[in-house]
Amino acid sequence: MSETPTTPTKGFLAKHAILERSPTLLLVSSLVVVAIGGLVEIVPLFYLENTIEKVEGVRPYSPLELAGRDVYIREGCYLCHSQMIRPMRDEVERYGHYSLAAESMYDHPFQWGSKRTGPDLARVGGKYSDAWHLDHLIAPRSVVPESIMPGYAYLLDTYVNADYTADLVRTHRIVGVPYTEGMIAVAATDVLAQADPETDAYDDLLARYPGAQIRNFDGRPGVSEMDALIAYLQMLGTTVDFSTFTPDASR
Ligand code: HEC
Repeated sequence: MSETPTTPTKGFLAKHAILERSPTLLLVSSLVVVAIGGLVEIVPLFYLENTIEKVEGVRPYSPLELAGRDVYIREGCYLCHSQMIRPMRDEVERYGHYSLAAESMYDHPFQWGSKRTGPDLARVGGKYSDAWHLDHLIAPRSVVPESIMPGYAYLLDTYVNADYTADLVRTHRIVGVPYTEGMIAVAATDVLAQADPETDAYDDLLARYPGAQIRNFDGRPGVSEMDALIAYLQMLGTTVDFSTFTPDASR
């Protein structure tokens, strides 16, 4: 009976035996190998500007949309809704074009999510009328009888406090959203103007936030958190024109 050799005794592989016989050397070499792998994966993330493809139309949230986004986060909407359409056929057919990285580049924190008790909301903007959203948020089962979503009628009675808007916008600038000093200076006016169809600031607001929808979202006097939330929902996924967008194949 001939013995099967298990360890090479000659050639390059035999050198591995040196590593295997010295625990310290093996440990240090393993760390070096893992560190290289880690660096390759992690370092590019520190240069996110290079990894997100610039897409025309994507802009920072207007102050009212940002206030609505705050309500969305505060109320925990993200616990049941994701905002990320995956590039798979069933998702694209149901929700529309798959989400682009650029579409959430001004989201701090992002709202991608992996839990869908309700549908994905990444492209809900323009899907329903303001009146539908209003009815649905007040009493979801009035428009979708089988819905298990809770109602948020109280948002009609709480008003957007413009005193904090400039701070909110400034906070987002600290984490990298390119709001200018000019935008911050008029944020308190903008937040109210966007829900007022009679506003004098119509053109200025649109120049600062192209495509911003300006109207009384909840149909009632005053700028409620309901106005802010509907303004936010109605802009979700609407900034990129997918009839002209072509993905950069080099990425
Ligand atoms: C307990 C889970 C839950 C929470 C929390 C929740 N939703 Fe929903 N949502 C659902 C379910 C389920 C549906 C699907 C049935 C329906 O349309 O009501 C839905 C539907 C929706 C729709 C319609 C989407 C579509 O494409 O038809 C919108 C818009 C929406 N929710 C917004 C919100 C907002 C805004 C909040 C937070 C204020 C919120 N939801 C909180 C479960 C939830």
